[in-house]
Amino acid sequence: MSPRMSEYPQVLFKNRVPGETVLIDGYRTTGGYTALEKAFKELDPATIRDQVKRANLRGRGGAGFPTGIKWSFFPADQPGEKYLVCNCDEMEPGTYKDRELLKADPHQLIEGVIIAAFALQTPVAYIFIRYAFEDCAANLDRAVAEAAAAGYLGKNILGSGFDCEIHVHRSAGRYILGEETALLNGLEGKRPNPRSKPPFPAVRGLFGQPTTVNNVETLANVPHIINHGAEWFKGLARTLEGAGTKLFGLSGHLERTACFELPVGILLREVVEEVGGGVRGGRTFKACLPGGASTPYLTAAQLDTPLDFEPLEAVGSRFGTAGVTVFDDTTCMVAATLNLIRFFARESCGWCTPCRDGLPVVAWLLDKIEAGKATFDDIDMLKDQFRNISGRSFCALAEGAMGPVAGLLNHFEQELADHVIKGRCPLKKK
Ligand SMILES: Cc1cc2nc3c(=O)[nH]c(=O)nc-3n(C[C@H](O)[C@H](O)[C@H](O)COP(=O)(O)O)c2cc1C
Ligand code: SF4
Repeated sequence: MSPRMSEYPQVLFKNRVPGETVLIDGYRTTGGYTALEKAFKELDPATIRDQVKRANLRGRGGAGFPTGIKWSFFPADQPGEKYLVCNCDEMEPGTYKDRELLKADPHQLIEGVIIAAFALQTPVAYIFIRYAFEDCAANLDRAVAEAAAAGYLGKNILGSGFDCEIHVHRSAGRYILGEETALLNGLEGKRPNPRSKPPFPAVRGLFGQPTTVNNVETLANVPHIINHGAEWFKGLARTLEGAGTKLFGLSGHLERTACFELPVGILLREVVEEVGGGVRGGRTFKACLPGGASTPYLTAAQLDTPLDFEPLEAVGSRFGTAGVTVFDDTTCMVAATLNLIRFFARESCGWCTPCRDGLPVVAWLLDKIEAGKATFDDIDMLKDQFRNISGRSFCALAEGAMGPVAGLLNHFEQELADHVIKGRCPLKKK
Protein backbone atom coordinates (compact mmCIF):
# COMPACT_ATOMS: atom_id res chain seq x y z
CA MET A 1 0.00 0.00 0.00
CA SER A 2 1.12 3.55 -0.75
CA PRO A 3 2.43 5.32 2.39
CA ARG A 4 -0.11 8.09 1.75
CA MET A 5 -3.22 5.94 1.23
CA SER A 6 -4.41 6.65 4.78
CA GLU A 7 -4.72 10.33 3.76
CA TYR A 8 -7.28 9.59 1.08
CA PRO A 9 -10.91 9.24 2.26
CA GLN A 10 -12.25 5.78 1.40
CA VAL A 11 -15.94 5.90 0.55
CA LEU A 12 -16.58 3.32 -2.18
CA PHE A 13 -13.73 1.06 -1.08
CA LYS A 14 -14.21 1.45 2.67
CA ASN A 15 -15.31 -2.20 3.07
CA ARG A 16 -12.82 -3.58 0.56
CA VAL A 17 -10.58 -6.44 1.68
CA PRO A 18 -8.61 -7.93 -1.24
CA GLY A 19 -9.86 -11.41 -2.11
CA GLU A 20 -13.07 -11.06 -0.07
CA THR A 21 -16.68 -10.08 -0.83
CA VAL A 22 -18.83 -8.30 1.76
CA LEU A 23 -22.18 -10.00 2.40
CA ILE A 24 -25.28 -8.19 3.65
CA ASP A 25 -24.46 -8.48 7.38
CA GLY A 26 -20.99 -7.02 6.89
CA TYR A 27 -22.39 -4.30 4.65
CA ARG A 28 -24.94 -3.33 7.29
CA THR A 29 -22.25 -3.22 10.00
CA THR A 30 -20.64 -0.22 8.30
CA GLY A 31 -23.90 1.65 7.63
CA GLY A 32 -25.12 -0.26 4.58
CA TYR A 33 -28.81 0.21 3.69
CA THR A 34 -29.23 3.18 6.09
CA ALA A 35 -29.39 5.48 3.03
CA LEU A 36 -32.12 3.31 1.56
CA GLU A 37 -34.09 3.44 4.84
CA LYS A 38 -33.65 7.24 4.90
CA ALA A 39 -34.67 7.58 1.24
CA PHE A 40 -37.83 5.48 1.61
CA LYS A 41 -38.91 6.74 5.05
CA GLU A 42 -37.87 10.40 5.07
CA LEU A 43 -37.41 11.60 1.46
CA ASP A 44 -39.53 11.72 -1.64
CA PRO A 45 -38.25 10.92 -5.18
CA ALA A 46 -37.94 14.59 -6.20
CA THR A 47 -35.84 15.41 -3.11
CA ILE A 48 -33.47 12.52 -3.87
CA ARG A 49 -33.08 13.70 -7.48
CA ASP A 50 -32.41 17.23 -6.26
CA GLN A 51 -29.81 16.04 -3.74
CA VAL A 52 -27.91 14.11 -6.44
CA LYS A 53 -28.04 17.18 -8.68
CA ARG A 54 -26.71 19.50 -5.96
CA ALA A 55 -23.92 17.01 -5.19
CA ASN A 56 -22.60 17.59 -8.71
CA LEU A 57 -22.11 13.86 -9.24
CA ARG A 58 -20.88 13.36 -12.80
CA GLY A 59 -21.27 10.05 -14.62
CA ARG A 60 -18.36 7.69 -14.02
CA GLY A 61 -18.87 5.73 -17.26
CA GLY A 62 -16.57 7.96 -19.31
CA ALA A 63 -18.65 10.82 -20.68
CA GLY A 64 -18.98 12.63 -17.33
CA PHE A 65 -22.53 13.84 -17.87
CA PRO A 66 -24.00 15.30 -14.63
CA THR A 67 -26.21 12.58 -13.13
CA GLY A 68 -28.73 14.93 -11.51
CA ILE A 69 -29.29 16.71 -14.81
CA LYS A 70 -29.71 13.41 -16.64
CA TRP A 71 -32.26 12.38 -14.01
CA SER A 72 -34.07 15.72 -14.39
CA PHE A 73 -34.80 14.87 -18.06
CA PHE A 74 -36.44 11.63 -17.02
CA PRO A 75 -40.25 11.52 -16.88
CA ALA A 76 -40.18 10.08 -13.35
CA ASP A 77 -43.60 11.42 -12.42
CA GLN A 78 -45.39 10.16 -15.53
CA PRO A 79 -47.17 6.80 -15.17
CA GLY A 80 -46.25 3.86 -17.39
CA GLU A 81 -43.42 1.44 -18.12
CA LYS A 82 -39.94 2.89 -17.38
CA TYR A 83 -36.53 1.37 -16.80
CA LEU A 84 -33.24 1.94 -15.04
CA VAL A 85 -30.23 0.18 -16.56
CA CYS A 86 -26.83 -0.10 -14.89
CA ASN A 87 -23.92 -0.34 -17.33
CA CYS A 88 -21.26 -2.84 -16.29
CA ASP A 89 -19.77 -3.61 -19.69
CA GLU A 90 -16.33 -2.15 -18.86
CA MET A 91 -14.13 -3.14 -21.79
CA GLU A 92 -12.19 0.11 -22.20
CA PRO A 93 -8.50 -0.92 -22.09
CA GLY A 94 -6.89 0.26 -18.86
CA THR A 95 -10.22 0.45 -17.02
CA TYR A 96 -11.03 -2.09 -14.33
CA LYS A 97 -12.77 -0.16 -11.56
CA ASP A 98 -16.38 -1.42 -11.76
CA ARG A 99 -15.38 -5.05 -11.52
CA GLU A 100 -13.12 -4.24 -8.52
CA LEU A 101 -16.06 -2.56 -6.81
CA LEU A 102 -18.36 -5.51 -7.51
CA LYS A 103 -15.82 -8.08 -6.41
CA ALA A 104 -15.50 -6.32 -3.05
CA ASP A 105 -18.86 -4.79 -2.18
CA PRO A 106 -21.83 -5.65 -4.46
CA HIS A 107 -24.49 -4.41 -2.01
CA GLN A 108 -23.26 -0.87 -2.49
CA LEU A 109 -24.41 -1.02 -6.11
CA ILE A 110 -27.66 -2.80 -5.22
CA GLU A 111 -28.48 -0.09 -2.64
CA GLY A 112 -27.63 2.61 -5.21
CA VAL A 113 -29.80 0.96 -7.86
CA ILE A 114 -32.81 0.67 -5.52
CA ILE A 115 -32.53 4.32 -4.40
CA ALA A 116 -32.11 5.48 -8.02
CA ALA A 117 -35.08 3.33 -9.10
CA PHE A 118 -37.17 4.94 -6.35
CA ALA A 119 -35.97 8.44 -7.33
CA LEU A 120 -36.83 7.77 -11.00
CA GLN A 121 -39.92 5.67 -10.20
CA THR A 122 -38.76 2.76 -12.34
CA PRO A 123 -40.07 -0.51 -10.90
CA VAL A 124 -37.71 -2.59 -13.07
CA ALA A 125 -33.91 -2.25 -13.15
CA TYR A 126 -31.37 -4.24 -15.14
CA ILE A 127 -27.70 -4.64 -14.38
CA PHE A 128 -26.01 -5.31 -17.71
CA ILE A 129 -22.77 -7.19 -17.09
CA ARG A 130 -20.45 -9.05 -19.46
CA TYR A 131 -20.24 -12.83 -19.04
CA ALA A 132 -16.47 -12.57 -18.47
CA PHE A 133 -17.20 -10.99 -15.06
CA GLU A 134 -18.99 -14.10 -13.84
CA ASP A 135 -17.56 -13.72 -10.33
CA CYS A 136 -19.09 -10.22 -10.12
CA ALA A 137 -22.38 -11.39 -11.67
CA ALA A 138 -22.59 -14.20 -9.08
CA ASN A 139 -21.92 -11.65 -6.32
CA LEU A 140 -24.76 -9.53 -7.69
CA ASP A 141 -27.16 -12.51 -7.85
CA ARG A 142 -26.42 -13.26 -4.21
CA ALA A 143 -26.71 -9.59 -3.17
CA VAL A 144 -30.09 -9.27 -4.97
CA ALA A 145 -31.38 -12.38 -3.15
CA GLU A 146 -30.09 -11.10 0.22
CA ALA A 147 -31.61 -7.64 -0.35
CA ALA A 148 -34.95 -9.18 -1.31
CA ALA A 149 -34.94 -11.41 1.79
CA ALA A 150 -34.28 -8.33 3.93
CA GLY A 151 -37.28 -6.49 2.41
CA TYR A 152 -35.23 -3.98 0.38
CA LEU A 153 -36.46 -5.34 -2.94
CA GLY A 154 -39.81 -6.68 -4.15
CA LYS A 155 -43.30 -5.43 -3.41
CA ASN A 156 -44.06 -2.40 -1.23
CA ILE A 157 -40.48 -1.78 -0.10
CA LEU A 158 -40.41 -0.70 3.57
CA GLY A 159 -44.14 0.09 3.36
CA SER A 160 -43.56 2.83 0.78
CA GLY A 161 -45.93 1.42 -1.81
CA PHE A 162 -43.01 1.26 -4.30
CA ASP A 163 -42.15 -2.08 -5.94
CA CYS A 164 -38.77 -2.82 -7.45
CA GLU A 165 -37.14 -5.82 -9.10
CA ILE A 166 -33.54 -6.09 -10.28
CA HIS A 167 -32.43 -8.43 -13.06
CA VAL A 168 -28.76 -9.26 -13.53
CA HIS A 169 -28.29 -9.68 -17.31
CA ARG A 170 -25.15 -11.47 -18.52
CA SER A 171 -24.19 -10.17 -21.95
CA ALA A 172 -21.95 -11.68 -24.61
CA GLY A 173 -19.69 -8.65 -24.07
CA ARG A 174 -18.07 -6.48 -26.71
CA TYR A 175 -16.71 -2.95 -26.36
CA ILE A 176 -19.61 -1.45 -28.34
CA LEU A 177 -22.08 -2.92 -25.84
CA GLY A 178 -20.87 -0.28 -23.37
CA GLU A 179 -22.32 2.47 -25.60
CA GLU A 180 -25.67 3.00 -23.96
CA THR A 181 -27.95 2.67 -26.97
CA ALA A 182 -26.07 -0.35 -28.34
CA LEU A 183 -26.45 -1.80 -24.85
CA LEU A 184 -30.22 -1.29 -25.00
CA ASN A 185 -30.35 -3.11 -28.35
CA GLY A 186 -28.26 -5.91 -26.84
CA LEU A 187 -30.58 -6.12 -23.84
CA GLU A 188 -33.53 -6.45 -26.22
CA GLY A 189 -31.76 -9.36 -27.94
CA LYS A 190 -30.94 -7.37 -31.07
CA ARG A 191 -27.65 -6.73 -32.86
CA PRO A 192 -25.85 -4.10 -30.74
CA ASN A 193 -25.49 -1.23 -33.20
CA PRO A 194 -25.88 2.16 -31.54
CA ARG A 195 -29.21 3.93 -32.08
CA SER A 196 -29.60 7.43 -33.44
CA LYS A 197 -30.11 10.14 -30.84
CA PRO A 198 -32.60 11.83 -30.57
CA PRO A 199 -34.73 10.24 -29.37
CA PHE A 200 -32.58 9.88 -26.25
CA PRO A 201 -33.11 6.90 -23.96
CA ALA A 202 -34.95 9.14 -21.46
CA VAL A 203 -37.66 9.48 -24.13
CA ARG A 204 -37.43 6.14 -25.95
CA GLY A 205 -35.09 3.60 -24.44
CA LEU A 206 -35.45 -0.05 -23.49
CA PHE A 207 -38.43 -1.67 -25.28
CA GLY A 208 -39.31 1.83 -26.54
CA GLN A 209 -39.92 3.14 -23.01
CA PRO A 210 -38.21 5.92 -21.00
CA THR A 211 -34.90 4.61 -19.68
CA THR A 212 -31.95 5.94 -17.72
CA VAL A 213 -28.55 4.30 -18.16
CA ASN A 214 -25.93 4.85 -15.46
CA ASN A 215 -22.53 3.41 -14.74
CA VAL A 216 -21.80 1.12 -11.75
CA GLU A 217 -19.57 3.63 -9.93
CA THR A 218 -22.09 6.45 -10.54
CA LEU A 219 -24.89 4.51 -8.86
CA ALA A 220 -22.64 3.24 -6.04
CA ASN A 221 -22.07 6.87 -5.03
CA VAL A 222 -25.79 7.55 -4.54
CA PRO A 223 -26.24 5.96 -1.06
CA HIS A 224 -23.28 8.01 0.26
CA ILE A 225 -24.76 11.25 -1.10
CA ILE A 226 -28.09 10.45 0.55
CA ASN A 227 -26.42 9.61 3.87
CA HIS A 228 -23.95 12.51 4.07
CA GLY A 229 -25.36 15.23 1.80
CA ALA A 230 -24.36 17.17 -1.30
CA GLU A 231 -21.89 19.51 0.44
CA TRP A 232 -19.98 16.62 2.00
CA PHE A 233 -19.73 14.95 -1.41
CA LYS A 234 -18.42 18.08 -3.09
CA GLY A 235 -15.94 18.53 -0.24
CA LEU A 236 -14.29 15.18 -1.02
CA ALA A 237 -12.79 16.62 -4.23
CA ARG A 238 -9.58 18.65 -4.38
CA THR A 239 -10.92 21.00 -7.09
CA LEU A 240 -13.63 23.61 -6.51
CA GLU A 241 -15.72 22.47 -9.46
CA GLY A 242 -15.18 18.74 -8.78
CA ALA A 243 -17.08 16.38 -6.51
CA GLY A 244 -16.49 13.05 -4.82
CA THR A 245 -13.80 10.46 -4.95
CA LYS A 246 -12.88 8.44 -8.04
CA LEU A 247 -11.74 4.88 -8.59
CA PHE A 248 -8.46 5.10 -10.52
CA GLY A 249 -7.19 1.98 -12.27
CA LEU A 250 -3.40 2.27 -12.53
CA SER A 251 -1.55 0.27 -15.17
CA GLY A 252 1.54 0.32 -17.35
CA HIS A 253 5.09 1.17 -16.33
CA LEU A 254 4.53 1.94 -12.64
CA GLU A 255 5.99 0.27 -9.58
CA ARG A 256 2.49 -0.24 -8.15
CA THR A 257 -0.46 -1.03 -10.43
CA ALA A 258 -3.86 -1.54 -8.80
CA CYS A 259 -7.22 0.16 -8.45
CA PHE A 260 -7.22 2.98 -5.87
CA GLU A 261 -9.92 5.29 -4.53
CA LEU A 262 -8.53 8.84 -4.64
CA PRO A 263 -10.00 12.35 -4.45
CA VAL A 264 -11.26 13.88 -7.70
CA GLY A 265 -8.74 16.59 -8.61
CA ILE A 266 -5.64 14.82 -7.25
CA LEU A 267 -2.57 15.82 -9.27
CA LEU A 268 -1.33 13.38 -11.90
CA ARG A 269 2.12 13.73 -10.31
CA GLU A 270 0.82 12.50 -6.96
CA VAL A 271 -0.89 9.53 -8.62
CA VAL A 272 2.29 8.57 -10.50
CA GLU A 273 4.91 9.29 -7.84
CA GLU A 274 3.09 8.58 -4.57
CA VAL A 275 0.22 6.20 -5.28
CA GLY A 276 1.86 4.37 -8.19
CA GLY A 277 5.27 4.35 -6.50
CA GLY A 278 6.95 6.09 -9.46
CA VAL A 279 7.93 4.84 -12.88
CA ARG A 280 9.07 1.22 -12.90
CA GLY A 281 12.78 0.56 -12.43
CA GLY A 282 13.55 4.25 -11.79
CA ARG A 283 12.99 5.10 -15.43
CA THR A 284 11.59 8.39 -16.76
CA PHE A 285 7.92 9.22 -17.29
CA LYS A 286 7.25 9.70 -20.99
CA ALA A 287 3.46 9.86 -21.32
CA CYS A 288 0.20 8.55 -19.95
CA LEU A 289 -3.39 7.97 -20.90
CA PRO A 290 -5.22 9.71 -18.03
CA GLY A 291 -8.69 8.23 -18.49
CA GLY A 292 -8.63 4.99 -20.44
CA ALA A 293 -7.66 4.11 -24.00
CA SER A 294 -9.86 6.73 -25.66
CA THR A 295 -8.22 9.77 -24.04
CA PRO A 296 -5.36 11.84 -25.53
CA TYR A 297 -1.90 11.34 -24.00
CA LEU A 298 -0.43 13.67 -21.41
CA THR A 299 3.33 14.25 -21.19
CA ALA A 300 5.73 15.03 -18.34
CA ALA A 301 5.01 18.74 -18.87
CA GLN A 302 1.44 18.06 -17.69
CA LEU A 303 2.24 16.09 -14.53
CA ASP A 304 0.86 18.90 -12.38
CA THR A 305 -2.63 18.71 -13.93
CA PRO A 306 -5.47 17.99 -11.49
CA LEU A 307 -7.29 14.82 -12.53
CA ASP A 308 -10.79 16.18 -12.98
CA PHE A 309 -13.03 16.91 -15.98
CA GLU A 310 -12.33 20.61 -16.66
CA PRO A 311 -8.57 20.70 -15.93
CA LEU A 312 -7.97 17.72 -18.22
CA GLU A 313 -10.02 19.26 -21.02
CA ALA A 314 -7.99 22.47 -20.59
CA VAL A 315 -4.80 20.52 -21.44
CA GLY A 316 -6.38 18.75 -24.41
CA SER A 317 -7.30 15.45 -22.81
CA ARG A 318 -10.23 13.91 -20.91
CA PHE A 319 -10.96 12.41 -17.48
CA GLY A 320 -12.80 9.47 -19.13
CA THR A 321 -12.85 6.48 -16.79
CA ALA A 322 -9.72 7.48 -14.82
CA GLY A 323 -7.82 4.44 -16.05
CA VAL A 324 -4.28 5.86 -15.82
CA THR A 325 -1.83 3.98 -18.06
CA VAL A 326 1.78 5.17 -17.78
CA PHE A 327 4.47 4.76 -20.47
CA ASP A 328 8.17 5.07 -19.66
CA ASP A 329 10.94 6.44 -21.90
CA THR A 330 11.53 3.07 -23.57
CA THR A 331 8.06 3.21 -25.15
CA CYS A 332 7.61 3.88 -28.84
CA MET A 333 4.48 6.03 -28.90
CA VAL A 334 3.74 4.98 -32.49
CA ALA A 335 3.71 1.33 -31.43
CA ALA A 336 1.63 2.13 -28.33
CA THR A 337 -0.94 4.00 -30.45
CA LEU A 338 -0.99 1.23 -33.06
CA ASN A 339 -1.79 -1.27 -30.31
CA LEU A 340 -4.76 0.86 -29.17
CA ILE A 341 -6.04 1.52 -32.69
CA ARG A 342 -5.97 -2.20 -33.49
CA PHE A 343 -8.28 -2.69 -30.50
CA PHE A 344 -10.71 0.01 -31.63
CA ALA A 345 -10.69 -1.18 -35.27
CA ARG A 346 -11.47 -4.72 -34.11
CA GLU A 347 -14.31 -3.51 -31.86
CA SER A 348 -15.97 -1.30 -34.52
CA CYS A 349 -19.56 -2.42 -35.05
CA GLY A 350 -19.22 -1.63 -38.76
CA TRP A 351 -22.26 0.64 -38.92
CA CYS A 352 -20.63 3.84 -40.23
CA THR A 353 -17.89 4.37 -42.80
CA PRO A 354 -15.43 6.67 -40.94
CA CYS A 355 -15.06 4.07 -38.20
CA ARG A 356 -15.43 0.80 -40.15
CA ASP A 357 -13.09 1.84 -42.98
CA GLY A 358 -11.10 4.67 -41.37
CA LEU A 359 -9.75 2.87 -38.30
CA PRO A 360 -8.11 0.04 -40.32
CA VAL A 361 -6.43 2.69 -42.52
CA VAL A 362 -5.10 4.45 -39.41
CA ALA A 363 -3.80 1.10 -38.12
CA TRP A 364 -2.18 0.34 -41.52
CA LEU A 365 -0.46 3.76 -41.58
CA LEU A 366 0.82 3.45 -37.99
CA ASP A 367 2.09 -0.04 -38.73
CA LYS A 368 3.94 1.25 -41.80
CA ILE A 369 5.44 4.17 -39.86
CA GLU A 370 6.48 1.98 -36.92
CA ALA A 371 8.16 -0.48 -39.33
CA GLY A 372 10.20 2.39 -40.82
CA LYS A 373 8.63 1.91 -44.26
CA ALA A 374 6.66 5.17 -44.40
CA THR A 375 7.27 8.52 -46.10
CA PHE A 376 6.23 11.99 -44.97
CA ASP A 377 3.19 11.61 -47.25
CA ASP A 378 2.04 8.81 -44.94
CA ILE A 379 2.22 11.14 -41.94
CA ASP A 380 0.15 13.67 -43.90
CA MET A 381 -2.31 10.91 -44.72
CA LEU A 382 -2.49 10.02 -41.01
CA LYS A 383 -3.41 13.64 -40.24
CA ASP A 384 -5.96 13.56 -43.03
CA GLN A 385 -7.55 10.38 -41.68
CA PHE A 386 -7.60 11.93 -38.20
CA ARG A 387 -9.55 14.92 -39.55
CA ASN A 388 -11.90 12.69 -41.56
CA ILE A 389 -12.80 10.47 -38.62
CA SER A 390 -12.98 13.08 -35.83
CA GLY A 391 -16.53 14.30 -35.27
CA ARG A 392 -17.87 12.30 -38.22
CA SER A 393 -18.79 8.95 -36.76
CA PHE A 394 -22.21 7.73 -35.72
CA CYS A 395 -21.22 7.01 -32.10
CA ALA A 396 -18.36 7.97 -29.82
CA LEU A 397 -16.28 4.80 -30.41
CA ALA A 398 -14.36 6.23 -33.36
CA GLU A 399 -14.16 9.65 -31.72
CA GLY A 400 -12.59 7.96 -28.69
CA ALA A 401 -10.21 6.02 -30.92
CA MET A 402 -8.93 9.35 -32.22
CA GLY A 403 -8.01 10.37 -28.63
CA PRO A 404 -4.58 8.70 -28.56
CA VAL A 405 -3.99 9.69 -32.22
CA ALA A 406 -4.62 13.33 -31.24
CA GLY A 407 -2.08 12.94 -28.43
CA LEU A 408 0.43 11.33 -30.81
CA LEU A 409 0.08 14.15 -33.36
CA ASN A 410 0.15 16.90 -30.71
CA HIS A 411 3.02 15.69 -28.56
CA PHE A 412 5.06 13.19 -30.56
CA GLU A 413 5.22 14.53 -34.11
CA GLN A 414 9.02 14.47 -33.99
CA GLU A 415 8.95 10.80 -32.99
CA LEU A 416 6.74 10.11 -36.02
CA ALA A 417 9.19 12.01 -38.26
CA ASP A 418 12.20 10.17 -36.78
CA HIS A 419 10.69 6.85 -37.90
CA VAL A 420 10.62 8.18 -41.48
CA ILE A 421 14.07 9.83 -41.34
CA LYS A 422 15.82 6.80 -39.81
CA GLY A 423 13.79 4.21 -41.72
CA ARG A 424 13.24 2.30 -38.46
CA CYS A 425 11.84 2.76 -34.98
CA PRO A 426 14.28 5.22 -33.34
CA LEU A 427 13.85 3.48 -29.98
CA LYS A 428 14.98 0.10 -31.25
CA LYS A 429 18.68 -0.74 -31.40
CA LYS A 430 19.91 -1.29 -34.96
C1 LIG B 1 -17.76 2.68 -27.26
C2 LIG B 1 -18.27 3.08 -25.92
C3 LIG B 1 -18.11 2.22 -24.84
C4 LIG B 1 -18.61 2.57 -23.59
N1 LIG B 1 -18.43 1.71 -22.54
C5 LIG B 1 -18.98 2.00 -21.34
C6 LIG B 1 -18.88 1.08 -20.26
O1 LIG B 1 -18.29 0.01 -20.37
N2 LIG B 1 -19.45 1.41 -19.08
C7 LIG B 1 -20.13 2.61 -18.92
O2 LIG B 1 -20.67 2.85 -17.85
N3 LIG B 1 -20.22 3.50 -19.92
C8 LIG B 1 -19.68 3.21 -21.12
N4 LIG B 1 -19.83 4.10 -22.14
C9 LIG B 1 -20.60 5.34 -21.91
C10 LIG B 1 -22.10 5.06 -22.00
O3 LIG B 1 -22.53 5.23 -23.35
C11 LIG B 1 -22.92 6.01 -21.10
O4 LIG B 1 -22.49 7.32 -21.32
C12 LIG B 1 -22.78 5.67 -19.62
O5 LIG B 1 -23.06 4.31 -19.36
C13 LIG B 1 -23.74 6.54 -18.83
O6 LIG B 1 -23.56 6.39 -17.46
P1 LIG B 1 -23.02 7.55 -16.53
O7 LIG B 1 -23.75 8.80 -16.93
O8 LIG B 1 -23.35 7.10 -15.17
O9 LIG B 1 -21.54 7.66 -16.80
C14 LIG B 1 -19.30 3.80 -23.42
C15 LIG B 1 -19.45 4.66 -24.51
C16 LIG B 1 -18.94 4.30 -25.74
C17 LIG B 1 -19.12 5.24 -26.89
S1 SF4 C 1 -18.45 4.83 -34.74
FE1 SF4 C 1 -17.88 2.67 -35.06
S2 SF4 C 1 -18.86 1.61 -33.38
FE2 SF4 C 1 -19.89 3.61 -33.56
S3 SF4 C 1 -21.61 3.27 -34.97
FE3 SF4 C 1 -19.89 3.88 -36.25
S4 SF4 C 1 -19.00 1.89 -36.88
FE4 SF4 C 1 -20.28 1.48 -35.11
